[in-house]
Amino acid sequence: MDVLEKRTPNAGFSTVPDKSIMAYEEQFGAHHYERLHMVVRRARGCWLFDEKGNRYLDGLAAYSAANTGHHHPAITTAMIKALKGEFASVLSNVVYTDPLGLFLAEAARFPPQLAERFGNNGNKVLPKNGGVESVETAIKAMRYYGYSQKGIRDGNQEIIVFANSFHGRTISVVSFSSTEKYRQGFGPLTPGFVSVAFGDLFAVKNAINANTCGILVEPMQGEGGMAIPPKGFLKGLRQLADENDLLLVCDEIQVGMGRTGKDFCFEHEEIVPDGVILGKALAGGLVPLSVFITNAWLMDLVFSKGSDGSTFGGYPLACVAGTAALRVFEKEQLAKGSATKGAVLKQRIQAIADRSPHVKEVRGKGLFIGIEVNSGNAMAFCKKLLDLNVIVNDSHGHTIRISPPLIINDHEMDFLVKRLETVLVDENS
Ligand SMILES: Cc1ncc(COP(=O)(O)O)c(C=O)c1O
Repeated sequence: MDVLEKRTPNAGFSTVPDKSIMAYEEQFGAHHYERLHMVVRRARGCWLFDEKGNRYLDGLAAYSAANTGHHHPAITTAMIKALKGEFASVLSNVVYTDPLGLFLAEAARFPPQLAERFGNNGNKVLPKNGGVESVETAIKAMRYYGYSQKGIRDGNQEIIVFANSFHGRTISVVSFSSTEKYRQGFGPLTPGFVSVAFGDLFAVKNAINANTCGILVEPMQGEGGMAIPPKGFLKGLRQLADENDLLLVCDEIQVGMGRTGKDFCFEHEEIVPDGVILGKALAGGLVPLSVFITNAWLMDLVFSKGSDGSTFGGYPLACVAGTAALRVFEKEQLAKGSATKGAVLKQRIQAIADRSPHVKEVRGKGLFIGIEVNSGNAMAFCKKLLDLNVIVNDSHGHTIRISPPLIINDHEMDFLVKRLETVLVDENS
């Protein structure tokens, strides 16, 4: 392949044509993602730009990682300042850094008091990089709690999880995935997880035994088909956790940070979990940053010096971005905006669905909206939308996932709705 024989120019600023970029990935990359046929050269706000400068509306926001929009000026400015001021580099966690301290203070105050039954101690935060690392932190916390407080023999702890959940790709986490492809051939798998149907409180109750230490739940399932549990489900989990002395941890990596119209998705049922996991949008989608947040007492119970760590977890550049993103989130009232814009968008999509032969159901909250299609092949519609300059993808095969940046404006929503109408209604008339 001639182009591969030339030297690779600086990544991201290249004038290498699309065809060659795709060829590079094909030849040198693992083929672990299905891709839409598009190379993005630039991203700003809700828009992505291709080689020729054509713009595409981002209806996916990198699975909620770009909630604040791409390259939000306040977040990028803070990061550039950190780089120019030479306080962005990784320093190892043997020293204190002001970006980490400031970020921890900001992030700890973001959720309400977690696990209040252990006291009104404030929250503490343990930072990592990708989301799944913080899921692992939460698993450690639940297991340690069971071992040290409930007297469960180490190695026997069990955590209740849910069918069709998605919490990431480490061996332990894929061990309890319902998707066989995520696990097959990767054994030995990690024991200690009991999976029950999402939304089924009776099944949860039946799964609880003397070795159960916690419940790990997505308050709404992102990858599991944009699934909303029946009303009362989270409240019921809270009650079961209280009655049986279990830690209830909400994975808000995809549905937190305003995505569903509240700061945290668990707020829809007015419950407070014992721990919460955030990632994706936490650093403005510009660098990986995830956290496990819990009651200060619980964090200190589980983690002591040397019991956990991460070279880049909480490093200065990520913390600068995280602090800036949390301030943007609050200042621009993104959760509130997501609720009002999402209600309008869902109504308009429902009106399209009512005239479409393809739509089984429209569901969602805030700017987290799924369009389940009758054929079960949502990707076919995503490809048609790409031809009309909209980027979205499927969730669980059967559902078109609509989750644009929360900063989307009326004009951008019109752009999206018009194209959804074209592929779901007009092309049949
Ligand atoms: C709910 C949820 N948890 C965990 C993860 C894993 O996050 P990451 O891919 O950053 O490891 C994801 C990613 O999509 C997710 O949606």
